[in-house]
Amino acid sequence: MPKIFYHHPGGATDVIDAVPGTSVMRAAITNGVDGIIGECGGQAMCATCHIYVREDYIGALPAMNEDEDEMLDVTSSPRDDERSRLACQIKVGPSLQEIAIDLPLTQVEP
Ligand code: FES
Repeated sequence: MPKIFYHHPGGATDVIDAVPGTSVMRAAITNGVDGIIGECGGQAMCATCHIYVREDYIGALPAMNEDEDEMLDVTSSPRDDERSRLACQIKVGPSLQEIAIDLPLTQVEP
């Protein structure tokens, strides 16, 4: 099963074996990983699933569409032009057997 490494800002890491076809957002919610909210259910409409993809995995990801790009301009933690993505738009499976991401400090405005 594909592996997802969720690195928390405090240094802890959750490692999840995800069902193929599952998004990085859905795998976090299903497995109780803190730090991803996913308020819109994966429609690229809330930006509460913002993540920073670790460099080694960026090249393996599908291209970003316009909706995702726009939502990444309204994240509560700063956007990183190289690493920021929406976790709901990244699915693990045959073409992505492993991914490591850093969680932002927050997903909502204080
Ligand atoms: Fe809402 Fe990803 S879950 S943008």
